[in-house]
Amino acid sequence: MSKEIISINGTISKPGEALISVMDRGFLYGDSVYEVTLTYNKIPFLLDEHLDRLYRSAKSIHMKFSFSREDLVNEIFKIVEKLTGDRLYIRIIVTRGIGEINLDPAASKTNNLVIIGRQLPVYPKSWYTEGVSLIVSDVLRNSKRSIDPNVKSGNYLNNVLAMAEAKEKGAFDAMMLNHKGNITEGTTSNIWIVEGSKFITPPLEAGLLGGITRKSLLILASKNGLEVSEENITPERLKKADECFLTSSTKEIVPIIKVDETLIGTGKPGAKTQNLHQIYKKFVMEYIS
Ligand SMILES: Cc1ncc(COP(=O)(O)O)c(C=O)c1O
Repeated sequence: MSKEIISINGTISKPGEALISVMDRGFLYGDSVYEVTLTYNKIPFLLDEHLDRLYRSAKSIHMKFSFSREDLVNEIFKIVEKLTGDRLYIRIIVTRGIGEINLDPAASKTNNLVIIGRQLPVYPKSWYTEGVSLIVSDVLRNSKRSIDPNVKSGNYLNNVLAMAEAKEKGAFDAMMLNHKGNITEGTTSNIWIVEGSKFITPPLEAGLLGGITRKSLLILASKNGLEVSEENITPERLKKADECFLTSSTKEIVPIIKVDETLIGTGKPGAKTQNLHQIYKKFVMEYIS
């Protein structure tokens, strides 16, 4: 049993020993797709949804997999079994593979499948009890006519730059705008605001990744009689919101208490955000039981 292992095309290695060629197109061009899923009690959470998104991302960039979905699932479970701990981080990366230095995708015939499995870090409790801050970044989310943000590809350089700006300014994360000036999402999370009793998140058309947590919450909130809506959010609207939070598979729901220099609501995690987090946690418990 290990704390971290990496599988490359089915061969399992320790982290420092898992090596891949520099001629891999994932390294040369970011020509890859990926997913991050996690386990609760060692059960991969919403694995089908993550794999559906992986396949959708691959289709969008005209990448065909040289392995079956069944083999991929088996490989994931093989890794989960070999790891210690209940809360595991599983990163699945599929590159277009190795080929001559040539942008033509046909230069590579076989994918490389890399799965990184490790214990999920324990996030600081204060994120959830005290909340975190955001900035609105100068870096724009790329247009849907470039790499569609709804494709989870290996091209995260925009997000890296936005995160660097957040860190320089002492913030937890950065919100990226689209070309129209509307909020899209965080560097690795979706954004929500609460206005009165309504939960609002930007629509997919704003140019963002259709988060699996976002989708679950849209369904869960409605089922629990909460008002939800997908609407464009400007930075001004965000700063006037009663509550604000981020969502992602690994971090679940993180309350936002400040955007740039503006406090959100009372400057403390909102009650409606915390209530929705409880609903989400119940959903997770039901899923794994
Ligand atoms: C850019 C971006 N948006 C949103 C999310 C949240 O998606 P999910 O809820 O599926 O984890 C992620 C997750 O990594 C992301 O990278």
